[in-house]
Amino acid sequence: MKKNILLPGGAGFIGSHVAAELLTRGYDVVIVDDLSNARADVIDRLERITGVRPAFYRIDAADKPALEQVFAENAIDAVIHFAGYKAVGESVAKPVSYYRNNLDTTLTLLETMSDHGVKELIFSSSATVYGVDNPAPYTEDMPRGGCTNPYGWTKAMIEQILQDACVADPALRVVCLRYFNPVGAHESGLIGEMPNGIPNNLMPYITQTAAGIRKELSVFGNDYPTPDGTGVRDFIHVVDLAKGHVAALSYADAHPGWEAINLGTGCGTSVLELVGTFASVNDISVPYRIAPRRSGDLAVCYAATDKARRLLGWQAEKTVADMCRDSWRWQQSSAKL
Ligand code: WQD
Repeated sequence: MKKNILLPGGAGFIGSHVAAELLTRGYDVVIVDDLSNARADVIDRLERITGVRPAFYRIDAADKPALEQVFAENAIDAVIHFAGYKAVGESVAKPVSYYRNNLDTTLTLLETMSDHGVKELIFSSSATVYGVDNPAPYTEDMPRGGCTNPYGWTKAMIEQILQDACVADPALRVVCLRYFNPVGAHESGLIGEMPNGIPNNLMPYITQTAAGIRKELSVFGNDYPTPDGTGVRDFIHVVDLAKGHVAALSYADAHPGWEAINLGTGCGTSVLELVGTFASVNDISVPYRIAPRRSGDLAVCYAATDKARRLLGWQAEKTVADMCRDSWRWQQSSAKL
């Protein structure tokens, strides 16, 4: 039986890649997005990739009457919740806006799901919920908290809200997917990351430097206790991440209750290793300078991946070279969109 999946925030970087995977697998998809961090033509590009056009509503998912209409017009079977602000630095400058938006959206979604008897939710969570007090590799049983920014706290609070909702309604089926560092783009070059303004994250800053849009990359610190002194992260290809969401849907179909599952590769790559791999696989130079550390950054962050393999039968397959190749293709093709 074809399943109808609602994707709040589904026009964004992660959401659009999950939509592509779902549509390719024969799911029906309904995207709800206010386009505050995405473009409307992603819907056209999803149709070009998959041959199927997802339903699209340009609304704020926190707008309850508008969300109610989406549920009334579509028989939703499950929800994958991407809707939320996600810039770490911006969250420090605008904490109230982040708590208001990210929590309101989630609470409105939960109320509307309950009104319509929808019991299955996959939540876009983040490795930031592990905070500064846990040692890498992070395992899902580690305590949540000690977050270094309001963005991370919103993810930790939403996980708690979902846990409490599952205690109150044992029929709920919730999986919180804790992303590590999503990078890369669909091989078509039609969808990818489109940061507003100056990129906060490493990979888009690398691709824009390679394209000459940025003069040089600032490497935030080379005095960390790591092999080359620069930060170490678990970069995961966004297509692997999207496949993890499809696997989580299948898992949630059969498992009531609340689960948190890491989506990472389990491998750490340093900033300079990523820069070097990018330059090598794409045969292009990436000018950089060593700059002071960025406040709030961890030295090392990478996933334990056993639980995803055991519960979802999923593991990441794409290499750092694939991530660099696909990111560069997207940088070049998105300039023409
Ligand atoms: C990675 C490394 C930087 C930019 C954040 C969020 C996480 C998720 C991914 C949303 C660090 C270094 C970066 C630059 C640099 N976001 N860096 N120069 O901070 O690991 O994770 O983004 O879901 O939740 O916390 O990602 O890409 O910003 O940084 O040297 O211009 O690259 O110091 O070591 P981060 P990042």
